[in-house]
Amino acid sequence: MAVTITVLSQKGGTGKTTTVRTLADAYRRNGLEVLCVDLDPQGNLSDYFDVPPDASPTVADLLAGQARAADAVFADILPANLRLAEAELVLAGKMGRELTLKRGLREIKRGYDLVLVDCPPSLGLLTVNALVAADHALITSEAEYFSLQGVEQALEVVELVRESLHPDLEWMGVVLNIADMRLVHSREALRSLQERFGEKVFDTAIRRSVRYAESAERGVSILDYAPHLGADYLALAGEVLARLGGFEEARERLSASASSSAIASSA
Ligand SMILES: Nc1ncnc2c1ncn2[C@@H]1O[C@H](COP(=O)(O)OP(=O)(O)O)[C@@H](O)[C@H]1O
Ligand SMILES: [Mg+2]
Repeated sequence: MAVTITVLSQKGGTGKTTTVRTLADAYRRNGLEVLCVDLDPQGNLSDYFDVPPDASPTVADLLAGQARAADAVFADILPANLRLAEAELVLAGKMGRELTLKRGLREIKRGYDLVLVDCPPSLGLLTVNALVAADHALITSEAEYFSLQGVEQALEVVELVRESLHPDLEWMGVVLNIADMRLVHSREALRSLQERFGEKVFDTAIRRSVRYAESAERGVSILDYAPHLGADYLALAGEVLARLGGFEEARERLSASASSSAIASSA
């Protein structure tokens, strides 16, 4: 049965989608079967994986009870598009509205090692569904002055879900993303996260680079487009597996690919 990780933050632009897609790339290249779930009506993750914009059914149909997950999965991604915004409104009026994604995913989880869920840039019903469906929550934070506040808010929702709906949900930690450690405010953001959350802050911070936007535009993984930067995500992927426990083989392969990309980038 797959382990499900939901990637969330209180707003957009913290690198959630980039994290989901690049972790998925890293794990797939190292032998794991990964299902990605796009739960953002903007459909950025679906675009990245080249799902046609008119794909149907989508996660919206799953949440509306009008499609089975197995029919909506397209090359290991459960896609989203703008119709998800409408589906969220309809869902809000239903019984068991927070449990819908969990129930919908149940039948397909068996075929995967990991399920990675990409959330919309808000902490509403879709993000709550993603948390209820998850085993672990991973918060992304941009390296800015007010990042601590954003993380606190996301964490509050994780706590609420744990208290009221899903006591086994675990908070895996927070990753500092889009970080330029040459800048004072990035270093301060990291320090305040570490002071507040200690070990929960991942050792790996994802460096900021214009290469990410370029690689997204070209539809190429950062792991290929700029391997020296992709090394950050290989390291994060390893840390995530270490926190999950198990997955020894994939961890060994990941650390081998991380060191070969480090050699390549120093050459
Ligand atoms: N490490 C990074 N450095 C610079 N830009 C990044 C980085 N990671 C992502 N981006 C860019 O920042 C924007 C927001 O990233 P995205 O992953 O879509 O965030 P979210 O899903 O939280 O809104 C995108 O244009 C993306 O290409
Ligand atoms: Mg996104």
